Amino acid sequence: MRILFIGGTGILSSACAPRALAAGHELALLNRGATSIRPVAEGAEVLRADIRDPDSVRAALEGRTFDVVVNFIAFTTDHIASDVDIFAGRTGQYVFISSASAYQKPPRRVPVTESTPLHNPFWQYSRDKIACEEALMRAYRERDFPVTIVRPSHTYDRTSLPIYGGWTQLDRMRRGLPVVVHGDGTSLWTLTHHVDFAKAFVGLLGHTRALGEAYTITSDDVLTWNQIYELLGDAAGAEPHLVHVTSNAIAALDPERGASLVGDKAHSMIFDNTKIKTLVPEYVATIPFEQGAREIVAWHDEDPARRVIDDDVNATIERLLALAGD
Ligand SMILES: NC(=O)c1ccc[n+]([C@@H]2O[C@H](COP(=O)([O-])OP(=O)(O)OC[C@H]3O[C@@H](n4cnc5c(N)ncnc54)[C@H](OP(=O)(O)O)[C@@H]3O)[C@@H](O)[C@H]2O)c1
Repeated sequence: MRILFIGGTGILSSACAPRALAAGHELALLNRGATSIRPVAEGAEVLRADIRDPDSVRAALEGRTFDVVVNFIAFTTDHIASDVDIFAGRTGQYVFISSASAYQKPPRRVPVTESTPLHNPFWQYSRDKIACEEALMRAYRERDFPVTIVRPSHTYDRTSLPIYGGWTQLDRMRRGLPVVVHGDGTSLWTLTHHVDFAKAFVGLLGHTRALGEAYTITSDDVLTWNQIYELLGDAAGAEPHLVHVTSNAIAALDPERGASLVGDKAHSMIFDNTKIKTLVPEYVATIPFEQGAREIVAWHDEDPARRVIDDDVNATIERLLALAGD
């Protein structure tokens, strides 16, 4: 198939690109060439354009058509309106990367399936993704726009530390300082390695049965937050001193990061991946977070420039520890 990714060097798309090429597809990546932290997949064609500037996209595509277009970086209904305009009649399938954070919070029933309601009163990012999904389903019903919706949950690669405060907290662990964990650290969370995500994702590209449908894609690697911090500590050769602070207390001092806790990570999220496995029967996630944690620490240890310490996060953590009496 002829496939176009908008993105291609992001966390998710950097694993999907080599997987699509290995499956024998022709792949073009459309991006600005501004992200260099991950390499461009060997064998992919690179088109330079800014997806927020539709004229630059039309010029880069030069009247070409595709079997599949995936936009990894659409977040608002404006982005969707522009994509429907550009890609209607130009692709056999348009894949929107939504988010599992769109599912009802708190979930009334686990495991979460694709029929779990989409409702998140806590996080604007999730409400925007829901609005995008609704706009696309309208375009599907009214104009036969060939949409498939994919809802990843927390998906990481070696560059991305999946805890509050990122490397700043890992650095604290190594210095023997207490680290903040939201809640009691006992809520359940599903982490997915980007290479596992790509196995399921590339399998659904081009499936006509996926048109008008939504799919959750996650691993079955369900951990408590205490386990996640402990596995990162193990990988970093540190024994973490975990201090538990409510998600609301974190959100009160750090509204932006806090919204992703209160609106997502504070809740026990367990997903039923039966629907994607029915379409892509070979999909099995095989990378446990023990391995992911080692990859993350090794990548950061390779270069001091990657070990970014955020002084604001450190100051917030100290205030939270004081509130917790630690
Ligand atoms: N990671 C998670 O845990 C998670 C969970 C749920 C949903 N998601 C969703 O996954 C998507 C992120 O996917 P990702 O990780 O592959 O992407 P990403 O890490 O956000 O990377 C962005 C990619 O898009 C390109 N890009 C950024 N701005 C651009 C622009 N204006 N025009 C053209 N290209 C642009 C970047 O290249 P240049 O900078 O060179 O242009 C890069 O290739 C988002 O929709 C997010 O909501 C992620």
